[in-house]
Amino acid sequence: MAQKEDQFKKVISHAKEYGYIFQSSEIYDGLSAVYDYAQNGVELKKNIRDYWWKAMVQMHENIVGIDAAILMHPTTWKASGHVDAFNDPLIDNKDSKKRYRADVLVEEFREKINQKILKDIAKAQKRFGDAFNEDEFRATNPNVLRRQKQIDEITAELTRVQEENDLEGFKNLIVDLGITCPVSGSKNWTDVKQFNLMFGTQLGASADSSTKVYLRPETAQGIFVNFLNVQKTGRMKIPFGIAQTGKAFRNEIVARQFIFRMREFEQMEMQFFVKPGTQKEWYEKWKETRLKWHLSLGMGKDNYRFHDHEKLAHYADAAADIEFNFPFGFKELEGIHSRTDFDLKAHEEHSGKKLQYFDHEENQSYVPYVVETSIGLDRMFLAVFSNSLIEEELENNTTRTVLRLPAVLAPTKAAVLPLVKKDGLPEIARKIVDDLKWDFNVIYDEKDAVGRRYRRQDAAGTPFCITVDHDTLDNNTVTIRHRDTMEQKRVKIEELRDIIKQEVDVRSWLMKM
Ligand code: GAP
Repeated sequence: MAQKEDQFKKVISHAKEYGYIFQSSEIYDGLSAVYDYAQNGVELKKNIRDYWWKAMVQMHENIVGIDAAILMHPTTWKASGHVDAFNDPLIDNKDSKKRYRADVLVEEFREKINQKILKDIAKAQKRFGDAFNEDEFRATNPNVLRRQKQIDEITAELTRVQEENDLEGFKNLIVDLGITCPVSGSKNWTDVKQFNLMFGTQLGASADSSTKVYLRPETAQGIFVNFLNVQKTGRMKIPFGIAQTGKAFRNEIVARQFIFRMREFEQMEMQFFVKPGTQKEWYEKWKETRLKWHLSLGMGKDNYRFHDHEKLAHYADAAADIEFNFPFGFKELEGIHSRTDFDLKAHEEHSGKKLQYFDHEENQSYVPYVVETSIGLDRMFLAVFSNSLIEEELENNTTRTVLRLPAVLAPTKAAVLPLVKKDGLPEIARKIVDDLKWDFNVIYDEKDAVGRRYRRQDAAGTPFCITVDHDTLDNNTVTIRHRDTMEQKRVKIEELRDIIKQEVDVRSWLMKM
């Protein structure tokens, strides 16, 4: 656990040191759960977005993209259910004045009990060695049984108070469990209240004529309200999809874990409109397709798992998360939801406009069903970045820090380094940069000894270093060094473009899907 925490701290400091992520308005001590993408971060984020867009939009004849506005008519959020139900239960500790999500307090308490079980299991495993049978131990050990019973009771009561919106019961649960505030250590709690997560603002100049609007909490609604516009103007035939990437805003009560849970973040969503009755089939298909997209990046099959939702939102008939093994454990990275016709029907009702599709084959109109894929761009960034950061033991007993970003996503594809700052080497290096920059993001670096420059580029995630030396003057060749293998090869300058392209080309990565 401590090792994982350590790794996470390293991820955060590396992201700052190498120009990936800064705290927002840092000179004013930052703004909680809001972050800025720095010079390298903005490139990595763009490459992830492009990789998604290529796979989801440009490679599908029946999926198109839009870019809807962040501000939408306020009735949108009434129809979608966000005004009435996009709430988290919160509770304050009267002594520390700290605010918590009531469900998170209970879940963390429950997790502590689970950790005790895992500790007992680890101890027994050590004691009994190969003869150890975990299932049998769980079924017979009195301590484990007692703790598991407690976990089950907490889960049942938590589900009940959430489903029944029983706020008094929620507080009683926290009090009965004896949960203390992590800051003050006291059990002096306020009542539990529901807190709406949408950010509101005013549209219009004068106080009396202005309208309350919201910063969108998800990009999906921009797609739903444009469903018929796109279908008609694009002459789309069902099944078809509309995709969008863009900012979303949520006033999260507990927003920790760096860019995992932010108040301003970016989503990449696709709504796939299908004939009613076929949604299950499409839901399975999109689950499989999205997992393949993740696996194409080569970040390890074992780092992903599906988590099927047992408790479904009122509008869904199936839902699953793709979870990723983050430095703090398996957590949701992407959601795939079968949203039925809930959203389109709700918008029909609230707008008074028909949002139906005329199916020529069936000779009838209907409100399509929707299967949605929704991934947080920032969360994907964290998955890629944290998975890539490695401390590597080298043969000569030294270590190096290397950011093994998938080459297709790396911000800079190659650094061109003159061995020394004289004898015409910088001029040749600059010429190489000038030529390669038409095809790739490349940089010139002449500062420090070449070994240090290699290490700097390894840590920044640059897949290739190209070194211009005195032999280049004689035969027009350079060395090209690979970040991951550290192997160096002597190649002709005119071969560079093809060598780099082979490793960073989107086509070859997506072909692995
Ligand atoms: N349209 C469906 C929807 O918004 P969601 O599960 O609330 O569903 C989808 O969000 C994805 O957006 C999540 O899987 C996660 O990757 C990302 N996401 C949600 N809240 C976030 C936050 N506060 N910070 C960063 N990413 C977030």
